[in-house]
Amino acid sequence: MELLGIDIGGSGIKGAIVDSETGQLLTDRHRIPTPQPSVPDAVADVVAEMARHFSWQGPIGCTFPAVVRRGQVLTAANVDKSWIGAQAQELFSQRTGCPVTVINDADAAGIAEMTFGAGQGEQGVVLVFTLGTGIGSALFTRGVLAPNTELGHLELRGREAEKWAAARIRKEEKLSWKEWARRLDKYLRHVEFLFWPDLIIVGGGVSKKHEKFFPYIQTKARLVPAALRNNAGIVGAAMAAHARMRHPSPSMS
Ligand code: BGC
Repeated sequence: MELLGIDIGGSGIKGAIVDSETGQLLTDRHRIPTPQPSVPDAVADVVAEMARHFSWQGPIGCTFPAVVRRGQVLTAANVDKSWIGAQAQELFSQRTGCPVTVINDADAAGIAEMTFGAGQGEQGVVLVFTLGTGIGSALFTRGVLAPNTELGHLELRGREAEKWAAARIRKEEKLSWKEWARRLDKYLRHVEFLFWPDLIIVGGGVSKKHEKFFPYIQTKARLVPAALRNNAGIVGAAMAAHARMRHPSPSMS
């Protein structure tokens, strides 16, 4: 099925038409800068602009970098605080005139990786992390997602883990790859101690450079870079929308 996938990030909003059965992008990616401040109205305008860009009139899947339950945004760590409580799914559907499904960004990336990427066929416990401005997480067991795990907000050494070990922090604090990798190692081993995954998939922009930091990570779980890289969010969003079209259930996040 062809759907429009949109990935909402802190600096850019990216979209493409996706074949949800193969995970292939059927068009080039289109990128529009995220409005600042990233308030609901302004972001909804960009979502509508994206649909217009593709002359799109069908189902849309959209990621959002926060807890999303049944289309409602419940947190706002790295977006404007006015998102808390916003009915994102309803707002985007009204603005675009299309049925929109909204899902957490890491959950979307995780779904895409489990289906078409580094987690294909994995039956055990899998944790997918997206390392960027924050740390996003997606937890799967037997291929089924437990949504909104938000493991980037675990407390580590008296502070929120994503404020200490996200990819952004390496640049902000001018850490060497080794210094940052040591932090990531502590974080991943802490998570491992709680969830005992069989496989850890590391995504986000830095995963392209995994050979710079993987050697310092000593998890017991197998550690692999994400395969879909930049497209995971777009593809996962489209897949979530596809799933909702087929099985509209009130429990879908
Ligand atoms: C948010 C998550 C999101 C992650 C990556 C965190 O700050 O709380 O919902 O998945 O950043 O964008």
